[in-house]
Amino acid sequence: MRILATVADAQRMFEKEREAGRRIGFVPTMGYLHEGHASLVRRARADNDIVGVSIFVNPLQFGANEDLSAYPRDLDRDLDICEREGADVVFAPGTEEMYGTDTGVRVSAGPMATKLCGRTRPEHFDGVVTVVAKLFNIAGACRMYFGQKDAQQLVVIRNLARALNFPVEVVGCPIVRESDGLAMSSRNVYLNDDQRRSALVLKRSLDAAAVAVAEGESDGRRIAEMMAAQISCEPLARLDYAACVDPETLDDLERLDVPALCAVAAWFGSARLIDNMTVTPARGIDRRDD
Ligand code: PAJ
Repeated sequence: MRILATVADAQRMFEKEREAGRRIGFVPTMGYLHEGHASLVRRARADNDIVGVSIFVNPLQFGANEDLSAYPRDLDRDLDICEREGADVVFAPGTEEMYGTDTGVRVSAGPMATKLCGRTRPEHFDGVVTVVAKLFNIAGACRMYFGQKDAQQLVVIRNLARALNFPVEVVGCPIVRESDGLAMSSRNVYLNDDQRRSALVLKRSLDAAAVAVAEGESDGRRIAEMMAAQISCEPLARLDYAACVDPETLDDLERLDVPALCAVAAWFGSARLIDNMTVTPARGIDRRDD
C-alpha cells in the first residue's frame, strides 16, 4: 500500500493507473476509521481495480465553534485498517498541501445546503463540496463511495458531480450500525456511557417512524413531530431537528405517497449526532376516508 502526501503525486498515480486501463475506486474520509468507513473500502475493492482512500480533516467544513481541533485522529490505526481492507493507496495530505495557497475560492453547495443540517451548520456543505471537488480533480475519472449515514451530504455531492460535470460516478452505501443500533461515527468517541445509552433514541425514533408509516400513517408532519417528541423526552438529548423529507429535494413531505427520508440530529453533551432511515409508505392501505 502506498501512502502519498502531495496532490501532484496522487494525481500522477491515478492518471498512470487509468492509462493502464485500470478502474479507480476512491473513498474520501476524515480518518479515525471505523466499520462504516471499512464497508466503503470493501465496496470499492469489490467494484474496481485500484482503491484509493483519502484521510484529511477538512477545516473548511467545521464552523467556528465546532470540534476541528478536538476531532479524533489516529493515522497509524487508519493505515492498518486501509491495508487490511485492501486499499492500494492512501492519500493523506496536510492542511498546507490542500489549502496552503488558499485564494478564498469556494464551491457553493447551493440551496440544498441550507436545509436540515445546514440550518445549524450554515457553511458546512460549502466546505464539504469544496474539498470533494478538489478530491474529484485529484482522483480524476473514478467511482467515489459515500455513506448514506450522511444522507444530505450524499445528495449535495451527487448534485455537485452532476452540476459541474465531474467524470465521477457517485456511489451511495448503506449505514453501518453498532450491534445495538447506534450509527457508527467517528464522533461517538465523545460520548460517555450515559450519553452513549441516550444516543440510541435516534435509531429508536426512526424505527418508530418506520412502524407508524408501515401501519398507514402518511402525514409527514405528524411523523416528524412524533420523532421530535421522542428525542426531546430523552433527558441527555438536545434536539436539533427531526424531519420527514423528499430524499432528493430534501423538502418537507406533507403526504407520504413516495419513499421518504426520515432524518434526525441531536446533541449529546458536545457531540452532535445524526441518523436517518428511508421509509416506504404502506401499500394497499388507503386511509383517505379515515
Ligand atoms: P467522514 O465523516 O470521515 O466519513 C467518510 C465517509 O464515511 C462518508 O461518506 C460517510 O458518509 C461514511 N460513513 C461514516 N459513517 C458511516 C456509517 N456508519 N455507515 C456507512 N458510512 C459511513 O463525511 C466525511 O468524512 C467528510 O465530510 C468528507 C466527505 C470526507 C469530506 O471531507
